[in-house]
Parts: sequence; C-alpha cells; structure tokens
Amino acid sequence: MTNIVINNREVKAHEGETLIETARRCGFSIPSLCYSGHAKHQSSCMVCAVRNGKTGQIIPSCTTLPTEGMEIDTESNEVISSRTLSLELLLSDHRADCEAPCRTACPGNMDVARMNRLYDQGRYEEALHLLRDTLVIPATLCYICNAPCEKICRRGDVSASVSIREIKKALVAKTDLNKIPKPPGNGKRIAVKGSDPMALSAAYHLRKQGYEVHVFEPAGEILLPHIAQPERAPAELLALEINVMKQMGVEFILLQEPEPEAYHRVITPQTKTKQPAKLSLEGRYLAQGQDSKPFNSTYSRFSDSEKKALAGDTETMTNKSGCLYCDCDAKTSCLLRQYASEYGIRSSRYTKTLTQEALRRQAVSATMYFEQAKCIKCGLCVYNSVNGFTFRDRGFVMQVVLPEENASHISEELCELCPTGALYRRE
Ligand code: SF4
Ligand code: SF4
Ligand code: SF4
Ligand code: FES
Repeated sequence: MTNIVINNREVKAHEGETLIETARRCGFSIPSLCYSGHAKHQSSCMVCAVRNGKTGQIIPSCTTLPTEGMEIDTESNEVISSRTLSLELLLSDHRADCEAPCRTACPGNMDVARMNRLYDQGRYEEALHLLRDTLVIPATLCYICNAPCEKICRRGDVSASVSIREIKKALVAKTDLNKIPKPPGNGKRIAVKGSDPMALSAAYHLRKQGYEVHVFEPAGEILLPHIAQPERAPAELLALEINVMKQMGVEFILLQEPEPEAYHRVITPQTKTKQPAKLSLEGRYLAQGQDSKPFNSTYSRFSDSEKKALAGDTETMTNKSGCLYCDCDAKTSCLLRQYASEYGIRSSRYTKTLTQEALRRQAVSATMYFEQAKCIKCGLCVYNSVNGFTFRDRGFVMQVVLPEENASHISEELCELCPTGALYRRE
C-alpha cells in the first residue's frame, strides 16, 4: 500500500495501480481516451492530466504510479484548462460531423440521417415513428416548412441534395403504418389549449406517456388558424395525421374551452417562435423536459478531393434515399464527444487541419468500418491487434492505418476499445 493525498483526502494506492486506477476506485472522476482498463496502451492524449502538488507538474494519471506522500489535484482550474487544451487539439484534427448538418439546420432537430438509414433498410415503421416523435404531423409540416435541411445537405455538394421532404411524405403515404396502438392510460387527464404544432406535439407526447389528453380548439379548426399560409397544408394529409392522433386516443374538442376542475393540468402552450418544426420541438420539451445540447463536431464544405472520392463511392452513392449518412455512428457513445460536452467546448479554438478526408470509410468486415478522419491516434487498436492496425509516418503527419491485407486479423471487439467513432460496427 502507498499513502497518497488526492484533492486533500488521504487514500491508499494498491500495489501496481496507476494514479487513474486509485483515483477512480476512490470515487474521483478523471477522463481518459487512450487508456482503457487492462488493454495495452501508451499515454498520448493527456486528457487524464492531473497535477502533482509537490512538483507542480501536470502529469498523465494513466501511466504514473503513485509514490509515498504524493499530493494529487484532479479538479483545479489548471488541471481543467490542461485537459480542455488537449481535447481542443484533438478536435482540431477531426474532420467529421457528430450530427449531420441537416439535423442541426432543422428547427425541429429531426434526425434525418437516421430516418434515411431506416428508410434505406426498408424499416419504414421505425422511420415513421422517429419522424412523428420529432415532427408530430410530419407530412403537413413538410409543406409549411422552408426546408433548411435540404438547403444545407452535404450531398448537394457532390450531386443533388437529398429530397428529405419527399422521403417524409413517402413514409406518411404508407397508410398501413399510420396506426399507433393506444398507449395504456395512467388515470390522469390533461387539457391542451390550442392546436398549433406545439400544442399538437405536447398532446401527442403526453398521450404517449399515458395521460388522457383533450385538445381544445376554440377557433373550430385544427392547426390552420395558427399558421401563416394555411393553404399550404393539404387538407387530406392534415386529416390523415390528426386521425393518427385520434387513434392514439387524443380527443379534439372544438369551439370550447376546458373546465379546469375536470383536469389534472390545463396546458396553454406558449413560446416566441412561429417556425412550425421548432414549435413541434418545443411541444415535446413541454411534455418531456428539455434535452441538454451536447458538443457537435463539424466542418465546412467538402474539398475537391473529398467530392471526387465520394462521387466514386458506389456503396454510399447508390442507396435509395441518396443520403451520405453524414452523422457519426458513435454519436451517443463517443468519449471524445462526451468529454468535449462536459468541458464546455463549443468548437476548437485551433484552426482545423486538413490532413484527413471526411466520410472516407474503410470496410474492415461486412459490418465494421474504420474512418481515419475521426481517429485521435490513441493507438489502442494498434497495441491490441496482432498484424492489424499500425502507425504510419511520425510527428504531426502520423496516421493510424489498416493495410488491406491485415483486415482479416481484426476482431469486432476492437470497436469497444476505440474511444471515438473511428472504428465502429454499423447498425
Ligand atoms: S468521433 Fe465523436 S467527436 Fe467525432 S464526429 Fe463522432 S461522435 Fe463526434
Ligand atoms: S447527405 Fe444525408 S445526412 Fe448528409 S446532410 Fe444530406 S440528408 Fe443529411
Ligand atoms: S481507430 Fe485506433 S487509434 Fe484511432 S481512435 Fe480508434 S482506437 Fe484510437
Ligand atoms: S494520456 Fe492518459 S488517457 Fe490518454
């Protein structure tokens, strides 16, 4: 046993433990990217930095062994700044989108890339649920939204933008899927006043949570009195989409106001925006609470060589939707994104380098891919594969590569070690 002090607390380090292991076992939180439990590793990322109080040095906790009397600080401003700097440097050489631009441009935060993937795989029912969970009356909203998603679509840089609205309409047109089973009730009744997209979305999500929901529309017509150009919303589509809500059990009561004493809650949705998709998002927030906004890596337009490479990529360019699937397959599991969010990084302060090509995906097996532009060169895949991944070149231009002839030596478990979305299994 070795006695050390972490953040002014005396703790005992076990034989052979590194500082990060002692600290984590004792409940201190330290991030790490190039270290992963018992896997072979060498320190490189420096996000596990801590400060040695005796020497004043910032040291990597993943490779440093505790010594008797050591005083370690894991949370001072100096330590936090050092980790933030390391994360920003990694992100400056990261040419990738966490979320696709079509999603960040969508005022409703619609996960278009995921919808397109489901659509291309023929998983229409899942695609439609995703769509409706975001844009409560999706086909109608397509007619009254100006589609910033299509204007920003990266595919437009290579050939033509994905027809996102047409895909949504095609999904809603699969009428046999426009049936949502009635969610079980929780015995509580809620009144929602008005029927703009925010009110409809709140009603939809509250019904999904089990509330009995009554929508009161004193103006006598659903949605239309609340939108700028009601003639843009086709009547038969609106009727179809409202019918889905009715099948779920939402009741529409026209030309009346609720009697407050008959309800557990009376909701009058109010917000500043008039944008229909944004209203739908606000309605979901009203029912479910607001999501926190994570860090989002992104880059500007494709370079000429990226365009050329993508135009020749038959696998990507021939799917039904035409989508490049710009979002990252690891967007919910990536540690780099998680730490960047935790350390409050909005974007790297350092100019992006252009050493990598975005969306260049190397197939490792039928279901596993490697994307160099998301690789932070931590080396975990190199040290933990035999005749597999390897380093190429040195210094700033150093890259991790997988020679084609080595691909058959790679097991899918290696994906679990990769701290980013560089090495992943596709759904
Ligand atoms: S690897 Fe992580 S940080 Fe990079 S694009 Fe994917 S989720 Fe975002
Ligand atoms: S190619 Fe697909 S994921 Fe990329 S911006 Fe266009 S619709 Fe979105
Ligand atoms: S691909 Fe390998 S070197 Fe790159 S981030 Fe993933 S594990 Fe690290
Ligand atoms: S240097 Fe310690 S986790 Fe990367």
